[in-house]
Amino acid sequence: MTRTLLFAGAGERTEAWTRAFAEIAPEIDFRPYEPGQDISNVPYCLAWRVAPGLWAAMKQLKIIFGIGAGVDRLLADPGLPRDVPLVRMVEPELTRGMVEYVLWQCLFHHRKVWELEAAQNCAVWRPHTYPAPWDRTIGIMGLGELGAAAAAKLVEFGFQVRGWSRSPKSLPKVTSFFGPDQLPAFLSKTEILVCLLPLTSETRGILNASLFAQLPRGASLINAARGGHLVEADLLAAMAAGQINAATLDVFETEPLPPDHPFWSTERLYITPHNASVTDPRSAAWRIARQIAKFEAGEELDNVIDRARGY
Ligand code: NAP
Ligand code: GLV
Repeated sequence: MTRTLLFAGAGERTEAWTRAFAEIAPEIDFRPYEPGQDISNVPYCLAWRVAPGLWAAMKQLKIIFGIGAGVDRLLADPGLPRDVPLVRMVEPELTRGMVEYVLWQCLFHHRKVWELEAAQNCAVWRPHTYPAPWDRTIGIMGLGELGAAAAAKLVEFGFQVRGWSRSPKSLPKVTSFFGPDQLPAFLSKTEILVCLLPLTSETRGILNASLFAQLPRGASLINAARGGHLVEADLLAAMAAGQINAATLDVFETEPLPPDHPFWSTERLYITPHNASVTDPRSAAWRIARQIAKFEAGEELDNVIDRARGY
């Protein structure tokens, strides 16, 4: 079988992906998609979002590789073939980048850097205290590949870490909560809430007024998962009321975030442009090539999406 991998990806990174496959996995015939190209025999596809009609044209497709850890966008495409395995991205650089982002933002909120900024803006030497990490509780929604790694790093820094997932977990020094019944208990002591859930029919809109009301007053929110998790108007209302004191958002319902969006001018709301962590083509190329080799040897693929669960 020809090892052709069609790249139907985020256009601006085509060069980096092409270089990575040429250097790291030259056995893969890596082909960026071009309109008019015959793709009827392509066995493998690497995709983020795909132009209409493209899926139907790939008649011999054997595996779809998602460029990202989250595949909600691919799953939402009605043209996505139902019977072809969809493999999400798991690679160490993506995980490392997310751990770095979560640590950075948790420390930022833990130390309330905005109070220092306000003092500096008025040239005021204002004593600024903050609790020790072991007196600060951070709660992570989603204890999968990324959430578990972020939790381990926060534990290393001495924070009280709790996590919420679908199934129970046993992670060193992380208090595990699971399922809808344990969500209120998880939230009740979470001072900094980090969302690292996949976007599914169960998790869409989960960051809403009712959830915010269950956090201690003045909590912080960090959403590095998907914009669809957050009910934006509810966050604005919770921040105006002081229930949520500060937030960092990396992801939005509409991306890029429109220039007239109220988030841009909300005090203590910090915005990053969906770059909490980005797949590294060099690290990913090797893993994709290895998965293809495993598949061709009749072995099981890793990180295949369970279509019924949605992640
Ligand atoms: P993952 O390994 O699939 O982990 C997902 C976690 O969420 C699991 O712990 C799962 O519980 C939990 N979960 C799923 N549905 C749930 C529900 N209904 N209730 C409670 N817990 C639920 O995913 P990942 O690799 O960590 O990635 C997580 C998400 O991060 C991605 O889907 C993507 O949207 C986002 N992301 C964002 C960026 C960025 O730059 N902003 C970068 C990469 C990824 P179980 O363990 O019990 O199954
Ligand atoms: C990025 O958002 C990803 O899902 O990897």
